[in-house]
Amino acid sequence: MSPPNNIAAAELRARFVAALGEGHSSPWLAAFADVPRERFVPTFHRQDGRGQWNEVSAADPGYLETVYADTALTTQLDEHGVPTSSSSEPRLMLAMLDALNVKAGDTVYELGTGTGYNAALLASRLGSDNVVSADVDPELVQLARKRLAQSRLHPLVYAGDGAEGYPARAPYDRIIATAGLRCIPPPLLAQVQEGAVIVAPIGFGVARVVASDKGEAAGRFLPTPAFFMPRRTPGTKPAFAAWTFGLSRRPRFRPRTCSTG
Ligand SMILES: C[S@@+](CC[C@H](N)C(=O)[O-])C[C@H]1O[C@@H](n2cnc3c(N)ncnc32)[C@H](O)[C@@H]1O
Repeated sequence: MSPPNNIAAAELRARFVAALGEGHSSPWLAAFADVPRERFVPTFHRQDGRGQWNEVSAADPGYLETVYADTALTTQLDEHGVPTSSSSEPRLMLAMLDALNVKAGDTVYELGTGTGYNAALLASRLGSDNVVSADVDPELVQLARKRLAQSRLHPLVYAGDGAEGYPARAPYDRIIATAGLRCIPPPLLAQVQEGAVIVAPIGFGVARVVASDKGEAAGRFLPTPAFFMPRRTPGTKPAFAAWTFGLSRRPRFRPRTCSTG
């Protein structure tokens, strides 16, 4: 018999998936039903009214209910209390996964492993061998690998600047970024083939672009506004203050005019 906590989690997960699927059918719902979010977010940080961060774990009342709410959960803070990693709002994750428009056998590269939850959803649907995921923080990578293995999922997860991609497994059919970018990094554009779909947060939106045979990509923003933690380079912190944007509603990326800095 499962322990009570597992039963509660399974019930909450079933309700969570039903809510995600209300008025919206998606093949990704099976992956959300398959992967326990609490395994990837055993603790998170919540800010109180005074701005103080408090850690919340399974021992705290309301933990599971929050894990199965449509809420972003802050999972890492730097020494100044600035969030450096999180598990995104599930509904936004679903919108981004839907926008990828994957088919069986597609290979996907993810920039921003974080907790490993999105990598788990990808591997659950597409198979572990078809998923590569990078995080700039080696500690997060270690934790994500452990949690993925507990779920019997073994995508390739590595520490490094996800903007460089992972050429050894290229070309990819799809790319998803879960850290905020200023543009599609040129090395990623070079690691997809024509027709590949790239879904990436740019500014205060999520761009969905399709790669052309010229190594460029063009598309549109998803209707949902979103803001993700800015991409950082190894050894640096997210530069929230540096974001200024002048993007059109129809994003178009050409490697030579795009600086990832
Ligand atoms: C919103 S979180 C990712 C959420 C994640 N997909 C999940 O399911 O938990 C953004 C992540 O991007 C990572 N990140 C920031 N800059 C990066 C970079 N240059 N390369 C790879 N990962 C990066 C951060 O360390 C952080 O873990």
